[in-house]
Amino acid sequence: MRFGVVGTGRITRRLVADLQSTDNVTVTAIASRTRDRASWYASQYGIAAAVEGYEALLQREDVDAVYISLPPSMHAEWAIAAAEHGLHVLCEKPLAMSAAQAVSIDVACQNGGVRWLDATGWLHHPRTDAFSDWIRSGRLGEIGHVSVAVSFYQPFQSDDHRLDASLGGGCVLDLGWYASGLVRFASLGMPLEVAADVVIREGVPQRLTAMLWMADGVTATISCGYDTATRKWFEVAGSAASLICDDFTRPWAERPTRCWIHDASGQVEGHTFEGSQERRMIARLVGDQALTEWQQHAIDTHSILDAISLSVNHGGGRVTVRQVTD
Ligand SMILES: NC(=O)c1ccc[n+]([C@@H]2O[C@H](COP(=O)([O-])OP(=O)(O)OC[C@H]3O[C@@H](n4cnc5c(N)ncnc54)[C@H](OP(=O)(O)O)[C@@H]3O)[C@@H](O)[C@H]2O)c1
Repeated sequence: MRFGVVGTGRITRRLVADLQSTDNVTVTAIASRTRDRASWYASQYGIAAAVEGYEALLQREDVDAVYISLPPSMHAEWAIAAAEHGLHVLCEKPLAMSAAQAVSIDVACQNGGVRWLDATGWLHHPRTDAFSDWIRSGRLGEIGHVSVAVSFYQPFQSDDHRLDASLGGGCVLDLGWYASGLVRFASLGMPLEVAADVVIREGVPQRLTAMLWMADGVTATISCGYDTATRKWFEVAGSAASLICDDFTRPWAERPTRCWIHDASGQVEGHTFEGSQERRMIARLVGDQALTEWQQHAIDTHSILDAISLSVNHGGGRVTVRQVTD
């Protein structure tokens, strides 16, 4: 599958390398709003064609799929345009701005006969299969509570899209994406209700705190933000043991990919894993297996984020999660 890259954001360096090192995948073109940036990034990444303008990339004969790394507010527009050109879509997280937009992408891809995934790598790590087995098999006992924290502390450049609400900036979509997705994954279903609050600075949410209520009395808490050091961890607490992971969104550099099962007596069972989550994600997109499981996960994650935003707009009150479907 021949990929064209839409946008030249910071994340493209890593993902382009992952695309270039995945079997049966090549990267043939990269598009920027300006010719100079396209040329510079094409030369940096070893990509043959530098394209001025995103639409021009969609019209190329040597592109079968796009990798979209634009600010969130532009994801739906360009994913749908790509689908209408018959191109498969790998779109950065958050998939869109809302569940309704996420469904529009899904519908456009179905109509265009193309495949799509959001680039949420952790869902595709072999370790995530182990998380699923432990949670589903009863290894942890009965699940009671899930807690998740995702943050980083970084002075932003003034033009960072994360500080621009009109581009989908702020930690609710950016980091709440991982946290809400983890809650859905670990609690084996959708939350019924949420209550959430944010701290706004520079015009966007820079800290999010939320509580979620699932069926059967299972609860979850979320903490996200740009005002604490990097956290990417969760605990899934069961009646017999807790599953604890401190790097679920992306393994720490130069450290083994790891997690622990911690029981009531203080016994700790450590596990480590091999494998690239991004290459496995790309391989799934370019393969022929059904992608419905991950597509539904993305749409549901947006339904949770919609409810979080609704609660924030209602002063932190408890609101019902409305699951949006095709
Ligand atoms: N999966 C992950 O681990 C991961 C990690 C980081 C980020 N992300 C996601 O990847 C996406 C891009 O993030 P990033 O940090 O790479 O973004 P970034 O560095 O801000 O780059 C975004 C790119 O979008 C293009 N763009 C078009 N219109 C723009 C506008 N009005 N303002 C700013 N940029 C505009 C620009 O490319 P041109 O000017 O060249 O057209 C720019 O280089 C986001 O959705 C983010 O959440 C994912």
